[in-house]
Amino acid sequence: MYEWYPLIAVGVIVLVFAIILLMAYIFVKDKKQAMGFERQMSDREIMRRLVRYARPYLREFLLVGGVMLFSIAYDMISPLIIGWIEELAAGNFEMKQIYRAVAVYVGILLVSMLCSYVQAVVLQRTGQRIISVMREDLFRNIEQLSHEQLNAIPVGKLVTRVTNDTNAISMMFTNLLVNLIKNVFVIIGVFTAMLLLNYELTLMILCFVPFIVLFTVIFRRFSRRAYRKVKDCTTDINTYLSENLSGIKITQIFNREEAKMQDFLERSNALGRAKQEQILVFGIFRPLVYMLYVSSVLCLLYLGGKGYLKDQVFMGQVITSGTLVSFYLYIMKFFNPIQNLAEQFNWLQSALASAEKVFTVMDLEPAIQDTPDAVCLEEVRGEIEFRDVWFSYVEEEWVLKGVSFHVLPKETVAFVGSTGSGKTTILSLLCRNYEFQKGEILIDGIDIRRIKIASLRRHFGQMLQDVFLFSGTIRSNIALRAENITEEEIREACRYVNADHFIDKLEKGLDEEVRERGNNFSAGQRQLLSFARTIVHKPSVMILDEATANIDTETELLIQDSLEKMQNIGTMLMVAHRLSTIRHADRIIVLSHGRIMEQGTHQELLEKKGRYYRLYHLQYQREEMTRGTS
Ligand SMILES: Nc1ncnc2c1ncn2[C@@H]1O[C@H](COP(=O)(O)OP(=O)(O)OP(=O)(O)O)[C@@H](O)[C@H]1O
Ligand SMILES: [Mg+2]
Repeated sequence: MYEWYPLIAVGVIVLVFAIILLMAYIFVKDKKQAMGFERQMSDREIMRRLVRYARPYLREFLLVGGVMLFSIAYDMISPLIIGWIEELAAGNFEMKQIYRAVAVYVGILLVSMLCSYVQAVVLQRTGQRIISVMREDLFRNIEQLSHEQLNAIPVGKLVTRVTNDTNAISMMFTNLLVNLIKNVFVIIGVFTAMLLLNYELTLMILCFVPFIVLFTVIFRRFSRRAYRKVKDCTTDINTYLSENLSGIKITQIFNREEAKMQDFLERSNALGRAKQEQILVFGIFRPLVYMLYVSSVLCLLYLGGKGYLKDQVFMGQVITSGTLVSFYLYIMKFFNPIQNLAEQFNWLQSALASAEKVFTVMDLEPAIQDTPDAVCLEEVRGEIEFRDVWFSYVEEEWVLKGVSFHVLPKETVAFVGSTGSGKTTILSLLCRNYEFQKGEILIDGIDIRRIKIASLRRHFGQMLQDVFLFSGTIRSNIALRAENITEEEIREACRYVNADHFIDKLEKGLDEEVRERGNNFSAGQRQLLSFARTIVHKPSVMILDEATANIDTETELLIQDSLEKMQNIGTMLMVAHRLSTIRHADRIIVLSHGRIMEQGTHQELLEKKGRYYRLYHLQYQREEMTRGTS
């Protein structure tokens, strides 16, 4: 009886671990909902869409599949050859026989290595191609989103989708899928080989399989949890970073570095903890599988060593030393893929979760789209009409309440009104940055909802309240990659808006570097560049939302002058906070709380002695005062 003690000891140890894990499984809940990680798409749907991306590369995948069979063959055959060598060595052998066996082994090894290499190269290349197509699609879709949709998603989140999430998917194509399939084949193959070699020993190994399954199931729950946490924390940190790096100057101005550091530390630590949890889960799972492996090897060696198995005929089979060696190697080849499979299955889950997130962004329908019967605007005269337009950003909180006005071609109309009265909103509706809820907006008598958006925007030059310059050069910021714009046109535009004065003084002129957001230029200079950028695209209608309230007198004069010139180009709608800027407008529309209060020329409005008159005098007095003090 005592002969069985070692085996019983092994069984008890394995059982104890199994019970501990089971308890953990039962008592630690998977807080799926709490982490806002509910899946919307089924795995099958996600797989179907991924396959659609992979389909053009079917040939490459078939090649990899073929090559994979060879490397599996190595896994199957190599233990047999080593067992064969062992038997040769145990008996009366000739060196020649051993040489032959070794030569066969080395030959198979070389072929298998070559296969692995080819497989890796083909897969990496294919995977990267698939992912770059996916990234392009993703970016293109993000570009189509309306302002409203873009406002709703933090930039950091989008960055995570385009970078981290597509990377996770790329790993699936380059690594996971093939290895998953390979491991399944290896397990089946090794199992069959073991069965053919010896039932009895295979049955002994089978005793360990329920434990492997149990450990794997438990491991999957914990690792999925850890993966989710890592993902959430990564998105969180990216979102925080992208916002706070943009606003870092404000942080410095208000001496808030410490507070922000704390915020960042919290997120960073959360990510660290999530990663640690992930490592811990793997750190427990791997040794456990290893323990099962060692236990099964111990059993094999114990039984074999005890002579219970050696040269015994059991169910018609004889166990030789060669069988034992082959089995020893097969056990390793059996446990390895099982452990890999469990881990890869997790990665696969994680990749599918990433794919779902990516597809969710891809599925966002642009809120503003061309209608099927939309027309293309070839020429624009520049007549604009608002008919009782109602608009709200947030449901039922009307920002524009029945706005109506009519602008004739080539007319210059200015909007004034206190802050938040809806000036910027009117201008954005015109370019269909947002969709209005009620009323009509007509351009040359055509409802703008019936005009193709791209063709509408082509005729509009929008100079927004916040001038945005991209990193690059002055030239690239003016042309914005439009290929039909010549060098001469760029220079001409700069001259026209008086931007040439400062550009000429720069060392590299038009090729001067523009850093991120144009932070190496002054507000006035940025404004002039945005003017040049607008007129070089030859718009028929110009829209200016002016924000530079505090620029030096010299630049102000330059801007004033360029504005007056631009008025000759076409219809112009402008918002200016300095009333002196708009004095020469053909018409001034005074807004208050989303309603038009008055309209007329500067002179007419002054004579009316209404809201504009008051505004004008307030500003005039202030200017007098500042002049008096300076
Ligand atoms: N994206 C947005 N989402 C929700 N509300 C918005 C949004 N943009 C503007 N608003 C609201 O709409 C109102 C009008 O804003 P708008 O930008 O048109 O004002 P404005 O007249 O241009 O002001 P300013 O002179 O300060 O530029 C404001 O009350 C503002 O709070
Ligand atoms: Mg505004």
